[in-house]
Amino acid sequence: MIRLLPDHIINQIAAGEVVERPASAVKELVENAIDANATRIEVAIANGGRIMLAVDDNGDGMTGDDLKMAVQRHATSKISGEDIMAIHHLGFRGEALPSIASVSRMTISSRAVAEENGWMLDIENGKMGNLQPASRQKGTRVVVENLFAALPARLKFLKTDRTETAQILDMVRRISMAHPAIAFSVSDAGRQPMVLPAREDIRARIRDVMGADFADEALEIDARRDQVSVSGLAGLPTFNKSTATAIHLYVNGRAVRDRTLIGAVRAAYADTLPQGRHPVVVLFMGLPSQDVDVNVHPAKAEVRFRDGGMIRSLVINALRAAIDSNRQTSSQLGQVAIGMTAPSRGSWYGGMRRGGSSHPRLDWQSPASYSKALPFTDAAPDARLAETETAYGDASDNDQGQRGEDSFADYPLGAAKAQLHKTYIVAETPDGIVLVDQHAAHERLVLERIKAQREAGKVERQALLIPEVVEPGAAAVSILIEHAPMLAELGMVVEAFGDGAILVRETPAILGQANIQRLVRDTADELLEQDASKSIEDRINHVLATISCHGSVRAGRALNASEMNALLRDMEITPRSGQCNHGRPTFVNLSLADIEKLFGRR
Ligand SMILES: Nc1ncnc2c1ncn2[C@@H]1O[C@H](COP(=O)(O)OP(=O)(O)O)[C@@H](O)[C@H]1O
Ligand SMILES: [Mg+2]
Repeated sequence: MIRLLPDHIINQIAAGEVVERPASAVKELVENAIDANATRIEVAIANGGRIMLAVDDNGDGMTGDDLKMAVQRHATSKISGEDIMAIHHLGFRGEALPSIASVSRMTISSRAVAEENGWMLDIENGKMGNLQPASRQKGTRVVVENLFAALPARLKFLKTDRTETAQILDMVRRISMAHPAIAFSVSDAGRQPMVLPAREDIRARIRDVMGADFADEALEIDARRDQVSVSGLAGLPTFNKSTATAIHLYVNGRAVRDRTLIGAVRAAYADTLPQGRHPVVVLFMGLPSQDVDVNVHPAKAEVRFRDGGMIRSLVINALRAAIDSNRQTSSQLGQVAIGMTAPSRGSWYGGMRRGGSSHPRLDWQSPASYSKALPFTDAAPDARLAETETAYGDASDNDQGQRGEDSFADYPLGAAKAQLHKTYIVAETPDGIVLVDQHAAHERLVLERIKAQREAGKVERQALLIPEVVEPGAAAVSILIEHAPMLAELGMVVEAFGDGAILVRETPAILGQANIQRLVRDTADELLEQDASKSIEDRINHVLATISCHGSVRAGRALNASEMNALLRDMEITPRSGQCNHGRPTFVNLSLADIEKLFGRR
């Protein structure tokens, strides 16, 4: 026998999708307050929202009749009922209030702007009580008590109060970034874990939420194509995290987790981050409501774009342009470095004896990528550094002869003062010290040079006087031969040479006298390791990164002052030079202010 389900069961079914946990109830109620034009939204919770959660706003409010309608299923004031694509509010499905009310005890009190009096309505597990007069200011307060108490199965899935509270705070923070003009607060058992004052400027709100470390040095994004805009803040590649939770994406003011957008962000940062690290990004997309379907997910966390390809390329291009023009590494690196040098509590002697155990952990680098040793080239780098010098041409010709090295002091990376351990360059700037990893830095310069040649049409090659025979093993030979046309395009000309061997005829000119045996083996390893699911462009970039490694000044080679300065000047004009081909930082900036603090001078 088939029958229609009673309303309260339908609501409970919908509640299963819309209200997964207290944080999702808070999301729905806060979004309702935003839709009602509130300028102040106060959230209160008890026991992770399980015992009580309440959202109070100063928005438009509801009349008594509205109030009774609001808790009906599919009742909404937000779309006309004619065009589901014409969406100008966060809500439109008309199911949040009845769903939450079907699995809790809900009390709504509200006063509409034009009304003298307010009204109050309560609903207990879906059963509506009587409408009563209530006195209150303009706006609405929704109190939800004992969420899921009647559904032990759902209750069981909730985490500890502390986790649920954290989820609620996270949710409010996320929503708040798209609405800087609204003041938000959350209170929990007499404490106020979150207070966000109204801000005129979105950057100020992002700074409140994400912290000054991020916001003060993040790159500003502002691009538009036709009717679509993308704006926000993108973290420096060297300011990265071990999880993807700091990628905040918004579509028309709505926080979303969208695969197209996340994929675009990843692609934009692709070769600037170490394996397994994630960028910090706050991005707002704006587009006509007709061009995006937000009705694909009950909680509206996912969206579907009409022209996903266009959105993807817009986001990638906007982020790339910002990342490429950036030459900075995060000032966090300097602070972390200083933190490691600072004596731990008590005497420095005690700190030394305890060894490294008191050192703070670096957030920007996973230990795994440290252990992946770089294959160093044996090539003599002089030729390439000479080329590097010509790359910045006139400036060096005129300056370097006449000016002392000190005159570089006002360049961003300063004047090279010394080389330490034949690996690190120390430079002086007017307000600090720059420490450069010479191999990491040069590796990026070589990579960007080859990429630029490739984009200009042709990677310059040099023919070997005597072609070199390499015997890297059967698997390596076959993968190299299979990729021979691609390698030739990248400047490496190889051909089969009998059983288990290949002949190398030409190499990229920029590599100079590279160790060809190692170059070939590493390239084969890279090709063998590659994931077939990656895009061709992605794979080419990885091969290029491997090849570039072999043209780079290795650690352990002595550099003279003009070679060091040449490297610094080249870094200043090379895109993405803040991180090496493996995503590690190439330099650290120690500010004089921090160093002075270290020595107690401040
Ligand atoms: N805080 C509020 N202030 C004013 N009106 C509200 C508020 N919350 C809900 N409403 C009214 O109740 C209706 C139903 O809310 P809801 O169930 O969340 O559905 P939706 O937001 O999808 O319309 C809304 O369309 C709105 O008219
Ligand atoms: Mg709603």
